Amino acid sequence: MNVILLAAISANGKIAEHEGQTSLDWTSKEDLHFFVEKTKEIGVLIMGRKTFDTIGKPLKGRRVIVMTKEEREVMEENEGGGKVEFTNEQPRELLERLQKEGIESVVIAGGSSIYSQFLRVGLITELYLTVEPVLFGDGIPLATGFERINLSFVDSTLLGDGSVLLHFLCQK
Ligand SMILES: NC(=O)c1ccc[n+]([C@@H]2O[C@H](COP(=O)([O-])OP(=O)(O)OC[C@H]3O[C@@H](n4cnc5c(N)ncnc54)[C@H](OP(=O)(O)O)[C@@H]3O)[C@@H](O)[C@H]2O)c1
Repeated sequence: MNVILLAAISANGKIAEHEGQTSLDWTSKEDLHFFVEKTKEIGVLIMGRKTFDTIGKPLKGRRVIVMTKEEREVMEENEGGGKVEFTNEQPRELLERLQKEGIESVVIAGGSSIYSQFLRVGLITELYLTVEPVLFGDGIPLATGFERINLSFVDSTLLGDGSVLLHFLCQK
């Protein structure tokens, strides 16, 4: 299964200045465009409850699976076909279920706690990181608490005026 970590980071590796901050506060419109295109192409996103709270609604044409310990009702958006499900499954269990459903690729859409858990158990196969031209003096790191993972560079793309999209594969 392709498990694709997608994130926008500051030039010093942070994904937000503080908890609850929406990425739309500081990321480029070109990165948003890439996020929409890529997530529509893959179709399934996994994210943490705090990240979902910064979005708050279904994403058009995509299935969002929110990790949370709370039980919550499925949210469906009729016109755009977006759907939000909530799960208390752990990363490996969740991916195994999706694989049984025939899903071949998923996007891991953050936040830090979710990126960290999927990296910790070695489940990420690929990364797209948009480095935005900004430094945060404080904030939430991309991920923590995992053993070193070596990456293979695939390519880089300049998005707009100064954001750089990096594409890596995780080495086995
Ligand atoms: N720059 C970017 O690309 C990017 C991407 C994503 C997010 N962000 C930012 O990151 C921030 C949020 O990150 P975060 O690390 O604080 O929070 P998060 O990972 O989005 O959410 C954490 C929550 O997810 C649930 N959770 C985590 N692991 C779980 C597990 N194994 N089983 C069940 N539930 C689990 C828990 O929800 P409950 O408390 O409900 O149980 C936990 O409180 C926001 O500011 C957001 O904007 C940035």
